[in-house]
Amino acid sequence: MTTTIALDGGALRPLATADAAPLALMLAAMDPWTRLGYSASALERYLDREDGALSRWIIQRHGETAGVLALRSPWLRGPYVELFAILLPHQGHGLGGTVMDWAAKSAAEVAHNLWACVSDFNTPARAFYARHGFAEVAPLDGLVMPGNAEILLRKRLK
Ligand SMILES: CC(C)(COP(=O)(O)OP(=O)(O)OC[C@H]1O[C@@H](n2cnc3c(N)ncnc32)[C@H](O)[C@@H]1OP(=O)(O)O)[C@@H](O)C(=O)NCCC(=O)NCCS
Repeated sequence: MTTTIALDGGALRPLATADAAPLALMLAAMDPWTRLGYSASALERYLDREDGALSRWIIQRHGETAGVLALRSPWLRGPYVELFAILLPHQGHGLGGTVMDWAAKSAAEVAHNLWACVSDFNTPARAFYARHGFAEVAPLDGLVMPGNAEILLRKRLK
């Protein structure tokens, strides 16, 4: 059984059905999801649907919901960070970095790569991923929205 994972300054616990609706509302109200046109109902379905290859985690800080991480594995010779967000009041405290370090460490146990995508307009997240050792390997034009690219990111683990 998967249980809570303690991290420096926070924790990860498996996402439960009851988390999906409130979290989806918060994600739909923040970029990049607002700008990409994701609705709360679409995000709620994504968070709650059956998907055996997707592990979904609530990121906690001081016992509160502080964000979400969804990892798809197996993916491409390594897991894929499919959804990652730290909610606004919890940003800038090092929690995103701690969670990304945990994801890279876990991935390194099974694979040589960790993958993610970031919208081209999401400058702060692009800088965040670069600081955490991800290289921008390919722009995927119009993947989510015409006129914008999602950029595929790769972190080599070995
Ligand atoms: C990108 C994102 C995940 C980063 O999460 P975060 O928790 O804010 O990240 P961190 O706190 O680890 O790092 C961000 C900043 O805080 C700083 N920081 C790190 N530890 C800190 C600490 N203990 N105290 C104060 N600041 C700290 C970092 O140096 C960094 O500053 P910099 O940008 O000037 O270098 C978050 O901003 C987010 O969810 N954004 C919206 C959704 C998104 O873009 N998701 C990813 C792409 S889909």
